[in-house]
Amino acid sequence: MKLVYRQMLSFFLVICTLMVILTATYIQVTNTTLYHQTWDQLTTDSDTLMMDAVQYDFSNQELKGLKMQTLNANAQLLSRQNVHFTIYTPAKKVSFSSNGFRPSLTKDDWATVKRGKTIHKRLDAAPFRHDNSSRQMTEVIRPYIYQNKLIAVVATGTFVSTINQNRQQILINMLKCIALAAAVTLVMSYILSRQMTKRIKKMQKAATQIARGDYDIHLQTPSSDELDDLGRDFNKMADSLQASQEEIARQQERQQKFMADAAHEMRTPLTTINGLLEGLAYDAIPEEDKKHSIQLMQADTQRLIRLVNNTLDSEKLRTNQLTLRRTIFNGTEELHNLADQLKEKAAASGDVIKVDAPKLVRVYADYDRFVQIMFNIIQNAIQFTDQGTVTLAASREPHGATFSVTDTGIGMTKEQVDHIWDRFYKADRSRMNTQYGESGIGLSIVKQLVDLHGGKITVDSKHGVGSQFTIYFPDRDYAPANNGTKSQD
Ligand SMILES: Nc1ncnc2c1ncn2[C@@H]1O[C@H](COP(=O)(O)OP(=O)(O)OP(=O)(O)O)[C@@H](O)[C@H]1O
Ligand SMILES: [Mg+2]
Repeated sequence: MKLVYRQMLSFFLVICTLMVILTATYIQVTNTTLYHQTWDQLTTDSDTLMMDAVQYDFSNQELKGLKMQTLNANAQLLSRQNVHFTIYTPAKKVSFSSNGFRPSLTKDDWATVKRGKTIHKRLDAAPFRHDNSSRQMTEVIRPYIYQNKLIAVVATGTFVSTINQNRQQILINMLKCIALAAAVTLVMSYILSRQMTKRIKKMQKAATQIARGDYDIHLQTPSSDELDDLGRDFNKMADSLQASQEEIARQQERQQKFMADAAHEMRTPLTTINGLLEGLAYDAIPEEDKKHSIQLMQADTQRLIRLVNNTLDSEKLRTNQLTLRRTIFNGTEELHNLADQLKEKAAASGDVIKVDAPKLVRVYADYDRFVQIMFNIIQNAIQFTDQGTVTLAASREPHGATFSVTDTGIGMTKEQVDHIWDRFYKADRSRMNTQYGESGIGLSIVKQLVDLHGGKITVDSKHGVGSQFTIYFPDRDYAPANNGTKSQD
């Protein structure tokens, strides 16, 4: 069944149940009210009758008799209103009976009236003497007491059918109202259900659109009800789906570019190695140059190995496969080790490496990755500095440790600084030096490794003057600070 009809049905059923309960209660109340009204009227008739007809001797306090003429006149008048009455003496004899109406009073009835209580009978099959019939009557049997003495009992009654007729009329009116209300309810519930299902349909349409891969959706959500909450979540979902779709496209593009760049980078050493091998194969290289050729091939093979390792690291970082094993160690000690390792390479470019740091600078980092980061930066400093100085410094901060590598080399312009973290970026192609690699991937890995530590790397460089790289490693529990670069031309 369609949602709109299901909704309609439930609205309708609820309203109908409510109407049935209300109608049943109303009929019950009306019935009781009708009987009470009738009894009140009969009581009034009875009292009026007695006031008009009783002849009483006040001297000896006795009932002298009843005014028959008045009674007859009243009997006629009341019978036109379907009211009949009988007057009994205290000795249970009938003094007057209109139209032969003769309700039978039981012993209990007499006992009750003698106690001065009025009896209300909802239903009594009372005989009518004048035509020997018996009718369904409702009655009031009322005692009249004067000076603590029962003087008469009056039974007034009217036909139950009169009450039934009234009740039926009310019921018919009521049913007409119910039918009208049901029709209005039906229309209203249809309109309400339509409004609801229309909104759901809009969402269904949007979902189909998303399923087709079209995320350009904005549902109108003016109110704060659950459906609009759902609509807002829907909009958010579409936005984030669009964002992730764009991110996937960007990733794919980056991946393709990366593959192309990596292949390009590998081609140069492979071409060199191939050329030299061909030369060796055809004996085209003179004997005295053979050693140098082999050295060149070794250097290029090492470059290729480095490139492959870096590429693998880069991929691991990109796909979040790299996990850190952090420990606390002395950073200064590692700076001294690195300076020792690289001092020969520095000397080859006429550079001097200095360490300017306190004896102990505790750092919390992955040891191997820390060495990898610092090695890359120091190597860059040597690579881009001729006849200069490379200074390694370290200091302890309140919640971490800071290391810096300062050189007096070629420096960088602002534009160059902005790109050094990109993969395969090389600011100065004329400075290509196969001794160190130069694939332009080193700093991109460094940056990602520092990020992974929750740390921060900044660069301060001036073209033609030198560069300073500063790396901050936070201690456990301290969140990464913003990364940033600074440059002066
Ligand atoms: N200390 C520095 N002084 C001047 N330029 C620098 C310095 N460090 C990095 N650069 C510039 O940033 C670029 C990127 O450095 P990166 O270490 O990523 O690549 P690379 O050293 O060229 O190659 P490799 O991937 O082998 O490290 C360098 O090519 C260079 O132009
Ligand atoms: Mg480098």
